[in-house]
Amino acid sequence: MYEKNVTLSNGVEVPQLALSTWLIDDDKAAEAVREAVEIGYRHFDTAQAYANERGVGEGMRTAGVPREELFVTTKVAAEHKDYESAARSIDESLGAMGLDYLDMMIIHSPQPWLEVNQSDDRYYEGNLEAWRALTDAYKAGKIRAIGVSNFLQGDIDNIWDNTEVKPMVNQVLCHISNTPLDLIEYCQAKGIVMEAYSPVAHGEALKNPTIAQMAEKYGVTVPQLCIRYDLQLGMITLPKTANPEHMRSNADVDFQISAEDMETLKHVEKIKDYGDSSFFPVYGGKLKGYSGKPGTEEV
Ligand SMILES: NC(=O)c1ccc[n+]([C@@H]2O[C@H](COP(=O)([O-])OP(=O)(O)OC[C@H]3O[C@@H](n4cnc5c(N)ncnc54)[C@H](OP(=O)(O)O)[C@@H]3O)[C@@H](O)[C@H]2O)c1
Repeated sequence: MYEKNVTLSNGVEVPQLALSTWLIDDDKAAEAVREAVEIGYRHFDTAQAYANERGVGEGMRTAGVPREELFVTTKVAAEHKDYESAARSIDESLGAMGLDYLDMMIIHSPQPWLEVNQSDDRYYEGNLEAWRALTDAYKAGKIRAIGVSNFLQGDIDNIWDNTEVKPMVNQVLCHISNTPLDLIEYCQAKGIVMEAYSPVAHGEALKNPTIAQMAEKYGVTVPQLCIRYDLQLGMITLPKTANPEHMRSNADVDFQISAEDMETLKHVEKIKDYGDSSFFPVYGGKLKGYSGKPGTEEV
């Protein structure tokens, strides 16, 4: 089991490899968390928008490991762009998970999902309001660390220049063939820890012959190469699986990719589409309708 921690700007230690839970149903999430804890995972990533916070919380409470040894991240829904709704949602997440505190909470997206890839409005005021709600919850001891997700440089600057508590992480799409190197460098220079979501390109990396060839060179699987790549970029890495075999092999990543091969992997030709999942705004899609619940996306 890969067991390294990274330290955030406020001193909080975070297990660098996390189990992600997007698209794991609420009634399956508790079992997935318990399986993962058994294997050695200590960090779990969920979101209000995944509709499985209840199950993830139940898994943490019933995993047989003291609460303080586990780390959970959840996300303020992208649609909460005023103080009241963001603050209310934080308390709802705590209630749904049945926990006394959350380890980390981040703003899911600078824009509501219905506007991503469709509008130039970056919601600067709204993000400052959501950030104020997070900051107040942080100061009240409800959350140990706070951050953002899908924030570009201008979105980061807006928070950075106008607030007292600075974002501790930025969670972004990052995998071999699609690595936002400038953004990573910009944030890391500010002391913001970067997090990589969809490290296996939402499964698409498994179909890529160039990535397969490099995995073969190291005698590892494609997901192992992909996860190790993000870890070596210094990022908290969030592979998703509910399959215990995959959980086990995804955590067996104590090998070293050479500096030369890291450079090669940074510049692998970009995966052009994400198959049936291409409609998700995080993969460049545009939604026509969305109620905030998984499966309600209209394309
Ligand atoms: N902040 C955001 O806006 C945002 C957006 C997207 C995702 N995320 C986070 O990032 C997480 C990961 O994203 P993702 O779902 O795109 O994950 P991913 O890890 O890139 O890909 C998951 C896919 O890869 C497969 N897979 C994983 N390990 C495997 C293995 N060892 N062998 C074979 N197949 C394997 C999974 O299938 P099986 O389930 O069958 O193993 C699943 O189909 C999400 O759960 C979420 O927490 C955040």
